[in-house]
Amino acid sequence: MAKVVVLDKGEELFKMVSLFIESEFETEVESSDSFEKYLKEDDLTLFICDYTFVMDYKEEFEGLQKGDMKRKFIVLEDNLLFGDQEKKEVTETLSFCKHGFCHRDLVKQKFLELIEGFMGQKLVKVESEYSKVAINYFFKSKQALVDTYVKIGKEKFVKIVNRGEDIPDEVMEHITNKGVRFFYVKKVDFKECFKSIILGISGGAKAGVEGNLSNQFDSVENVHTALKSLGVSEHVLELADETVEVAKRTLEEQTSLPEFLKAFLKNKNYISELSTLTSYLAISCLNELPWGNPKTFAKFALASILQDAGLQDERLAKVCHLESEEFKGLNETEKKLVIEHPSKAVEILDSLDGMDQDIKDIVMQHHERPNGKGFPWGLKDNELNPLSNLYIICHEYAHRIITYGLNLQTMKAIDKDFREMFSSGAYAKPYKAFLDVFSSKR
Ligand SMILES: [Fe+2]
Repeated sequence: MAKVVVLDKGEELFKMVSLFIESEFETEVESSDSFEKYLKEDDLTLFICDYTFVMDYKEEFEGLQKGDMKRKFIVLEDNLLFGDQEKKEVTETLSFCKHGFCHRDLVKQKFLELIEGFMGQKLVKVESEYSKVAINYFFKSKQALVDTYVKIGKEKFVKIVNRGEDIPDEVMEHITNKGVRFFYVKKVDFKECFKSIILGISGGAKAGVEGNLSNQFDSVENVHTALKSLGVSEHVLELADETVEVAKRTLEEQTSLPEFLKAFLKNKNYISELSTLTSYLAISCLNELPWGNPKTFAKFALASILQDAGLQDERLAKVCHLESEEFKGLNETEKKLVIEHPSKAVEILDSLDGMDQDIKDIVMQHHERPNGKGFPWGLKDNELNPLSNLYIICHEYAHRIITYGLNLQTMKAIDKDFREMFSSGAYAKPYKAFLDVFSSKR
């Protein structure tokens, strides 16, 4: 019996693929985070996985090469961080078997063509004008996304609810009692239905990552989407959400928060995007390290919110390095503001309650860089607070992806430069944690 198996560490890809395949074929889809258990089964298996899965398990795939010629793979990619080099690596790893590539946006026709090309008659098609949708994916509250039917005979369908209306309780109860697992929607409505369900599964804002630079990180949802695409888990994102919320409340509850700081906290610009992204990145990495605990998470969140509180002008905040063209183009007064903004921010921290020395160190040192190339002091790796070493890696990462965009070219440049900058001395351990978090799509 032919079967489809989604290989992935999480459930999101499985939900998306099973929803799509079940709509077109009378085939159930399995989910697995390992393919070893399928090695001894017959060869009628179509594996579907993200390209990062192939790269992460390269050695295991290479071990498969003998006697596994008949297995088939559809490898999903997202255009974002998938370039010629990744394609070459995946192609080489899977050279022992038939495989094809498809965009993660499965609605595009190519996915179906690939499946049919690979499996032919082995997968039975749903031959009607309806598509099947598993009931458990269907609802947004109880409202029907589109006109919805149940199947009551071989080719007989009965509409149970109109688009946008609530499914009556008694109908729902009846269906559940009968053990019905699928609803049916007209094929023409399926794309709309699929998109809407997928947005729910992936937390929405999918367009954010591929959108233009100015809206890539302008909301927490977009930061989530971006970080997910970089390999950060849902669990870590929730942790970061909570921490950032608590940090914001800590500031709002200050007895005497200066007016300029109130206004600063409300701003939506590069400074706030950098702050949000840095804190999420730092918390994600910190979670991999022994000193990752709620207290240190909170310190990173507070430091990231206030790191540039000494600057009013976001143009100046965008200057990350003194040797950059942006810095060289400033007048003397502006240069002084940039150089002094870490110590100005520490002065602000001094006036607030509950800001400990670690937070002040991180803020003071957030522009220090390896080999004494940062500012204001030009400190070396072993002269920093150890929390700053990790924070600096994340600050640089956030600055780069906001400035240059979340795309393959930026990621490759980061990969190369960061290896040179951060893989030795006191930066080495935090850099390893950074790679552990982002290794699947660095
Ligand atoms: Fe700064």
